[in-house]
Amino acid sequence: MLTPMIGIVLGSGLGPLADAVLVEREVSFAEAGLPASSVPGHAGKFVFGRLNGAAVVLMKGRVHLYEGHGPRLVTAGIRWMAAQGLEMLILTNAAGTLHPGFHPGTWMMLGDHLNLTGLSPLEGPHFVDLSVAYDSDWRAVFRNAASHAGITLHEGVYAGLRGPQYETPAEIRMLRTLGADAVGMSTVLENIQARALGIPVVAFSCLTNWAAGITAAHLDHQEVLETGRAAAQQMIGLLADVLGKQS
Ligand code: HPA
Repeated sequence: MLTPMIGIVLGSGLGPLADAVLVEREVSFAEAGLPASSVPGHAGKFVFGRLNGAAVVLMKGRVHLYEGHGPRLVTAGIRWMAAQGLEMLILTNAAGTLHPGFHPGTWMMLGDHLNLTGLSPLEGPHFVDLSVAYDSDWRAVFRNAASHAGITLHEGVYAGLRGPQYETPAEIRMLRTLGADAVGMSTVLENIQARALGIPVVAFSCLTNWAAGITAAHLDHQEVLETGRAAAQQMIGLLADVLGKQS
């Protein structure tokens, strides 16, 4: 029997969300037939349990294009969770901010994305409508909940690139011109896969650093992880609040 659940993909440094979940069972990526992620800070397992009463499955650690995997493998976890019965998918990631008003240490809810990977998890004549890639109703719910809780929740456009190198200042200026507010190396293909399966998606970027060239500072993966950890507590509170009300 399938239990409709909320799927939550945890990005860099957001692993602590799992501590807020009453764990019922865990399935390793290997057991699910997925490759393990090689990135520090990304464990590889699915965690089934309850978050403030709501049935959730966490994808702890994800695989990325920049590890050398193709778009099908990168989205295999989404298809695996969908097969368990998902009513909604929440994607989280760490991202650099390009928007002068969106400061590192705050969260941005994705209003839309730019898929700049040049790739898709879909093949064949599968013309999925992405006019509303990120669910409007759920976004309103999160917007209101964040406002009530006094949590800064920006909304903007996420540019998804392959990586693994961070961008050059010229690339960041280009992305700004293209309308991006944040930049990262995940999420866009997972969104496309979930939308192709008819699953509503919301996504949140933890803005861990100013994108290259916005300040004189250099980018550091360790800093990205640490900022992610500090901001994770806010998102844990917001998710527990919103999902608890649905259960
Ligand atoms: N660029 C790309 N990906 C990222 C960044 C960045 O500045 N920060 C965290 N993930």
